[in-house]
Amino acid sequence: MENKMKFHWTNRLRVATFITVLTFLAAIPVKAQDGKSLFKANCASCHKALKNSTGPMLQGAKARWTDAGEADNIYKWVKDPVGLANSGTSPYAVQISEYSPTAMTAQGHLTNEEIDAILDYADNVKPVAKTAVASSDVDGKDGQEEGGALLWIILLIVVFSVVIFAARGVRKQLAYVVAEKEGEEIELNKSIKEKLGEWIVRNWKFTTIAFVLLAVTGGADLMKRGFQVGVYADYKPSQPINYSHKLHAGEMGIDCKYCHNSAEKSKHAGIPTVNVCMNCHENVVESDYRLGSTENIAKIHAAAGYDSETRKYTGNTSPIVWNKAHNLPDHVFFSHSQHVNTKTGNIDCKQCHGNVPTYGLGRVSTTEEINQLAGTDGIIPLTKPLLTMGWCLECHNEKAVDLTKSDYYKELHGRLKSRPDFLRKISEDDKITVRELGGWECAKCHY
Ligand code: HEC
Ligand code: HEC
Ligand code: HEC
Ligand code: HEC
Ligand code: HEC
Ligand code: HEC
Repeated sequence: MENKMKFHWTNRLRVATFITVLTFLAAIPVKAQDGKSLFKANCASCHKALKNSTGPMLQGAKARWTDAGEADNIYKWVKDPVGLANSGTSPYAVQISEYSPTAMTAQGHLTNEEIDAILDYADNVKPVAKTAVASSDVDGKDGQEEGGALLWIILLIVVFSVVIFAARGVRKQLAYVVAEKEGEEIELNKSIKEKLGEWIVRNWKFTTIAFVLLAVTGGADLMKRGFQVGVYADYKPSQPINYSHKLHAGEMGIDCKYCHNSAEKSKHAGIPTVNVCMNCHENVVESDYRLGSTENIAKIHAAAGYDSETRKYTGNTSPIVWNKAHNLPDHVFFSHSQHVNTKTGNIDCKQCHGNVPTYGLGRVSTTEEINQLAGTDGIIPLTKPLLTMGWCLECHNEKAVDLTKSDYYKELHGRLKSRPDFLRKISEDDKITVRELGGWECAKCHY
């Protein structure tokens, strides 16, 4: 009896220590992960960790403010940059605001701890190896991408396996000893699966805890992907040519529809063919916008079968294969024309794609970035991650339809107005939403 109690007690202690250690270890990547996702959600549209972009590179920012003797002001800056620069108390803020004609958007919703997490993340980003960068773009993907969580799980599995096999070995020895003593034949050919099963049952406390921990850390990651960041949000595939929206749509101000010219007329906005590029790039052979640019323009010429020396087409064309950033599943019907045409949705591209003129390559925007634009050009704030069903439904429930725009709705509205009882039934407030016109019906979006 005494013996059993004692065993019980040490066993408990062991389990408790085990939980503490694992929980502690599991808490470390969560913080790093937070800094990264906060960075992506709030800062990545303008900042890179390792390179200057719309804003200065964030690596070393903390040290720069400390060197300027304004260590505490960095939090004030992030929360209200213009306010700090105008306050007359921060010479460094005045200096840094000359970096760019675009002002940084105030990030007042962040706490000091969250800002620390972001800046720590930026300080710890490591440059990716040369070979990896080559195919990616000059706009630069910051190093140390995905893989933190995966590494963690692999580590746990390794530890796990070692424990299992160690325990197995010990048991085998014990079994031999016992069997020898009792003169029994021992059963040596149980399958690994059976042995593993037995081990799990016998050590059920250990396995339960490990399982729960894995589920919690893995599950939390999934939840983040599904609900916070969004499964597709911020997705930017690599591309064969390092095209830049910032240069073409931003600095040169080329209209989106010059290149995505079917957006108003058809289901697809479309990606421009090389001929569209050649309208300008027959003559624009060099660029001093960034390094490696001549090489990128040469790729356009190769695709068009154009010899820039002789200025003649050779006929050896090969299409540029761009990778899609936005991918709705096949069972979903989405049409640009219904949304962007002035006679129907009349929605600005920014509402669904973010501030594209600040992007390099095309990418899926994040809800947070778009919400920062809310209020301008009719953009409304939404909460759901882009490209999810919740996102479509939320907007259809929020967005008012201007019934005077199309002849069809004008006529419909006219008829409804003569039936005030009916109109009231559809619309409880003074606006009519897409939902009230059937925009929540499954068949509208699903084949
Ligand atoms: C809309 C673009 C934009 C966003 C979003 C943005 N910034 Fe900035 N940031 C800038 C610009 C531009 C500057 C340079 C100052 C200027 O020109 O006004 C800057 C400057 C800074 C600086 C000073 C850098 C230095 O070298 O001292 C810090 C720190 C900073 N940003 C942090 C952040 C953090 C953290 C976030 C996200 C929470 C963020 N910024 C989001 C545009 C942005
Ligand atoms: C000079 C031509 C050009 C102009 C102007 C242009 N784009 Fe693009 N756009 C491209 C090319 C080429 C791609 C494919 C490569 C890439 O993803 O960057 C692309 C890709 C995109 C994508 C990602 C599509 C996907 O899912 O793969 C979006 C979204 C987008 N553009 C929106 C816009 C918006 C909004 C504007 C206006 C602010 C605009 N573009 C202006 C050429 C252009
Ligand atoms: C109501 C939201 C919404 C608006 C507004 C919108 N888009 Fe899109 N866009 C999407 C969705 C959703 C996809 C993904 C479509 C798919 O995968 O079938 C997409 C895909 C794209 C693509 C990839 C190629 C394609 O056609 O699938 C481009 C380029 C693009 N949009 C450009 C634009 C431009 C330019 C505008 C403004 C003229 C615009 N979009 C307005 C939601 C929108
Ligand atoms: C309306 C004219 C125009 C069109 C259309 C156009 N470009 Fe350009 N592009 C330019 C100009 C001008 C430059 C050089 C800018 C500079 O030197 O500052 C340039 C530069 C570039 C560069 C080099 C940027 C760098 O890194 O220095 C690339 C790559 C490029 N364009 C790709 C494309 C692609 C791909 C298309 C078609 C989808 C396209 N352009 C369509 C005008 C155009
Ligand atoms: C930012 C708001 C917004 C988002 C996001 C949005 N829509 Fe819409 N959608 C509208 C508006 C506004 C209309 C009504 C256009 C009109 O006046 O005909 C509409 C109309 C439609 C229609 C036609 C409905 C009808 O009654 O004929 C379909 C289908 C549709 N949307 C599908 C989608 C899908 C699929 C998504 C998500 C991938 C999506 N929408 C995301 C605003 C949005
Ligand atoms: C406004 C457009 C819209 C309407 C209305 C709509 N859906 Fe969807 N639905 C989507 C989009 C977009 C996706 C793809 C989302 C994704 O892959 O995350 C989707 C995905 C789904 C899926 C697959 C989920 C998955 O995980 O892949 C199911 C099932 C579904 N919808 C059922 C329905 C049913 C049932 C209704 C009617 C009550 C409905 N939808 C109405 C846009 C819509």
